[in-house]
Amino acid sequence: MGKINASITGVQGYVPDYILTNKELETLVDTNDDWITSRTGVKERRILKGEGKGSSDLGAQAIIGLLKKTNTSAADIDLIICATATPDMIFPSTACIIADKVGAINAFAYDLMAACSGFLFALSTASKFIETGTYKKIIVVGADKMSSIVDYTDRSTCIIFGDGAGAVLLEPNKDGLGIQDAILRSDGSGGEFLHLKAGGSVKPASHATIDAKEHFIFQDGQPVFKAAVKSMADVSGEIMTNNNLSADDVAWLVPHQANKRIIEATARRMGVGNEKVMLNIEKYGNTTNATIPLCLWEWENQLNKGDNIILAAFGGGFTWGSIFIKWAYDSKK
Ligand code: UT7
Repeated sequence: MGKINASITGVQGYVPDYILTNKELETLVDTNDDWITSRTGVKERRILKGEGKGSSDLGAQAIIGLLKKTNTSAADIDLIICATATPDMIFPSTACIIADKVGAINAFAYDLMAACSGFLFALSTASKFIETGTYKKIIVVGADKMSSIVDYTDRSTCIIFGDGAGAVLLEPNKDGLGIQDAILRSDGSGGEFLHLKAGGSVKPASHATIDAKEHFIFQDGQPVFKAAVKSMADVSGEIMTNNNLSADDVAWLVPHQANKRIIEATARRMGVGNEKVMLNIEKYGNTTNATIPLCLWEWENQLNKGDNIILAAFGGGFTWGSIFIKWAYDSKK
């Protein structure tokens, strides 16, 4: 029997309707469109409005669209892994909630948390279940309602993040297409620069934690920026070297959308021109686990069977990584 690779056979994104523009942010904090655009590349982001709505609602919408476009029955899904930094609640997992919402009655489901690198970590984890022949249809969904943990009085973080979800269907491929290689890394000593202080077992929610705004993202931007530039560029270069890929061989770089300047530095290090870089940060901001599948979804019509695609991410933890994919299908143009 030939080697089985895990290949993406469909991708779908979902973003909520409400658009939070830089102009509107100017009314909330002391900032301006010029600063936000030049320092981050973000022009607007989407926000999930409405009581009782969480990341599962975003993820479920993406999966419902994915099942429809790939003509897949929800009952045929073996496993759903949800990468999220903003679970609906600590438990049950958001993946279980999503499975119920989409009718994936035969799937087992769990969450995976690796902050902004979660989608890559989940994709790599899921690929092993396919490569070993254990399962045939797996959905990896990145879903984050970042607005639920953003302090809209903190100008250094509220300008960056947005809400969204993206999902991919993974199936076996015996023609050498699909996921070829992954390099995944973490360094817990970086945790002090990017974290959410309260609400976990160390510091459960209390009046004091709420008063101190400890249920919002804390980020020390510059050390995170420096680590992100170095790590994302290094790991993307490394995966190219390990797989004998020149810049010409790479059809697309799909970077986590945290900051346009980080993305440009990564592309420069790889020697890949901007025309090969998926960039939609201006529309959605940093949707954490959704950035990479949202890019794949948006560019799906430009992808060709056999295209060499490099995914790269960096996030809280610190966590980072890169995945090399040979795209498995010709999209309908
Ligand atoms: O996805 C997970 C990983 N996260 C990241 O990769 C994010 C990495 N970090 C970044 O992208 C950047 O550090 C930020 C976008 C968060 C901040 O940009 P920066 O260029 O590092 O700005 P800074 O924090 O060094 O601040 C520079 C100046 C400061 O003013 P002073 O002290 O020089 O007078 C800030 O107070 O810009 C000021 N500033 C702002 N000004 C207008 C900070 N935020 C704003 C703002 N509008 N929103």
